Amino acid sequence: MLGQDISELLTKKGYSPVTWDIEDLDLTDKEETDRKLFELRPDIIINCCAYTAVDKAQEEPEKCTFINETTAKNLAEYCGANNAMLIHFSTDYVFPGLGQEPYKEDDEVKPLNIYGRSKALSEDAVRKNAERHFILRISWLYSDHGKNFVDTMLKLSRDRNMISVVSDQTGSPTYGRDVAEMVMFLLDKKEYGTYHLTNEGYTTWYELAKEIIRYSGRAVEVRPLTSEEYKTLAVRPKNSRLSKEKFKRTFGIEMPAWQDALERCMKALTC
Ligand SMILES: NC(=O)c1ccc[n+]([C@@H]2O[C@H](COP(=O)([O-])OP(=O)(O)OC[C@H]3O[C@@H](n4cnc5c(N)ncnc54)[C@H](OP(=O)(O)O)[C@@H]3O)[C@@H](O)[C@H]2O)c1
Repeated sequence: MLGQDISELLTKKGYSPVTWDIEDLDLTDKEETDRKLFELRPDIIINCCAYTAVDKAQEEPEKCTFINETTAKNLAEYCGANNAMLIHFSTDYVFPGLGQEPYKEDDEVKPLNIYGRSKALSEDAVRKNAERHFILRISWLYSDHGKNFVDTMLKLSRDRNMISVVSDQTGSPTYGRDVAEMVMFLLDKKEYGTYHLTNEGYTTWYELAKEIIRYSGRAVEVRPLTSEEYKTLAVRPKNSRLSKEKFKRTFGIEMPAWQDALERCMKALTC
């Protein structure tokens, strides 16, 4: 999902990105990854690859951990050895989600689920191996294509007149196309490190679902549920708030509000 948003924007802005999906290259294959990278010699790598099935990861922890840690490590090793820049994505799920305060970049990571743990390991691999890196922790990602929460709500609203959605998890829904804009912005920046990068403002999945249904114009009732009532294989953090102060302070810009982003996404979907 994010890979498509970023490659489409790069192309629109006149770049010619070389894009690889798993059919082109399995990034867990170190030998093949090195071979292709040494042939291409990229100055910048934007890594959108990940095992992202959060619940399934609980059933296949080794696979999720292997993919997320190894792919990041393989890319980071190339970048470290060749002074290339690596842009890597991580998640709010590295945090335990306690309290009400937004998490800062240097708060202690303590993931509640396997996916979060694997992404924390991917961060370590990037920090250890690639000096010129941006680790961007994003959250609740959606776009106007691909499988995501917006798409799921719209599909459900076609067949149901009532949808129940968790109302006790708070975070920032983040539009992939806005993340892509920030990635463009970072391409010539040198203030490397870990940053939180989401759309502005916080909400719950329940409030977000209500907004999506409102835009859809369908007469569907949205009911709140607690996490205890809606059991999933992977436990999610209740407080997914990420502080974006470091990014704003360093670069002097911020992402648009989540409501603005959602409106643009819904317009793109109806075009
Ligand atoms: N989605 C979210 O809500 C969210 C939230 C926070 C952070 N993030 C992070 O943001 C980034 C982008 O997420 P996304 O939602 O755009 O992910 P996505 O749509 O699931 O895309 C990930 C891609 O990585 C590919 N992949 C998996 N293993 C691979 C391998 N060994 N070699 C090469 N490619 C491989 C997948 O291929 P297959 O589909 O064939 O497996 C898929 O095309 C990820 O780092 C993710 O952890 C996502």
